[in-house]
Amino acid sequence: MPRTEFISTGFYVPDRVVRNEEFTQWMDTSDEWIRTRTGIRERHWAADDQATSDLALEATKVALERAGMKASDLDCIVFATVSPDYMFPGSGVYLQRKLGIANIPCLDVRDQCTGFLYGLSVADAWIRTGQYKRVLLVGAELQSVGLDLTTRGRDLAVLFGDGAGAAILGPTDDPGRGVLSTHLYSDGAYAELLWCNLGGTANRPRLSAEQIEQGLHWPKMVGREVFKHASTRMPASVHEALKVNGLTKDQITVLIAHQANQRISEMVQKQLELRDDQVYNNIERYGNTTAASIPIALDEYVQSGRLKRGDLLVLTAFGSGFTWGSAAIRW
Ligand code: COA
Repeated sequence: MPRTEFISTGFYVPDRVVRNEEFTQWMDTSDEWIRTRTGIRERHWAADDQATSDLALEATKVALERAGMKASDLDCIVFATVSPDYMFPGSGVYLQRKLGIANIPCLDVRDQCTGFLYGLSVADAWIRTGQYKRVLLVGAELQSVGLDLTTRGRDLAVLFGDGAGAAILGPTDDPGRGVLSTHLYSDGAYAELLWCNLGGTANRPRLSAEQIEQGLHWPKMVGREVFKHASTRMPASVHEALKVNGLTKDQITVLIAHQANQRISEMVQKQLELRDDQVYNNIERYGNTTAASIPIALDEYVQSGRLKRGDLLVLTAFGSGFTWGSAAIRW
């Protein structure tokens, strides 16, 4: 059975840079609070004429060009997002349409910040069994239009940013390379600790002016609980990935963890006892871009030239659900 390799990667963030200071015009906060609690200095926000699939399209164009491929070469699209263009259909078909292709499957993955890893796991299984040979895996988010930009929503609003990362995946016959394993977990007992109440079918009425008045359409989070779970579950899933493959932490070339909060990433690094050169973080410039954070960081790292063939790349994520997981990849 072949393994899955990353043929190329690409990312895109919108032009508008929103620095921490800007938030002080909308809410009671400060650059100092945001920087010291989260490590974030700035994030990118989409323009009014952009939807999530537009961000994904730009990231995809970069990945296709680097792969020397045309959109028509793709066999399948896997699109991970928590902020889709519309309630339905999923953003995958919009990306497909914008790429000018048809008649290939589009799978939308909604596993929040762990979406890219869930998508990777599915794409990997399809590629290994030979069902599809060229899979476009995208994580894209447009969070800025879904944030409560008042003091009521300040804990969440300052965290999130917009952006997209793409990877083109395919089979490799080189037995030493590719995705070694993926490890996925979830626990719905914690669903309401990071969630958005409104818009689904559990409420009667489904949507009312009164509910909106109450702010039920904004995402809500119990930050401390999320922090606690994220900083323990990510290292645990990395340990699992190492153990299954008979590897040790010293063999990790780079760990790219979902960029939720710099302090969480530091806790993960500490628990895994990794050196600074074994981790890559970029939350300072992009904030938390949910399903896009891993592919954006991965592409930045790849473009920096630091990831060489045969290196061990480990990915890990944690997010709403709760969902979490890891992947070990021989580059
Ligand atoms: N600016 C200023 N003050 C803020 C603020 C902001 N943007 N957001 C919250 N605060 C206030 C709180 O209201 C609270 O005030 P109080 O003590 O008067 O009640 C105070 O800061 C401390 O809040 P607390 O929630 O205890 O802070 P914290 O140290 O836990 O940090 C988070 C808050 C959100 C940064 C932190 O909990 C966190 O990062 N959690 C994980 C979030 C995450 O990664 N989510 C996505 C996961 S995929």
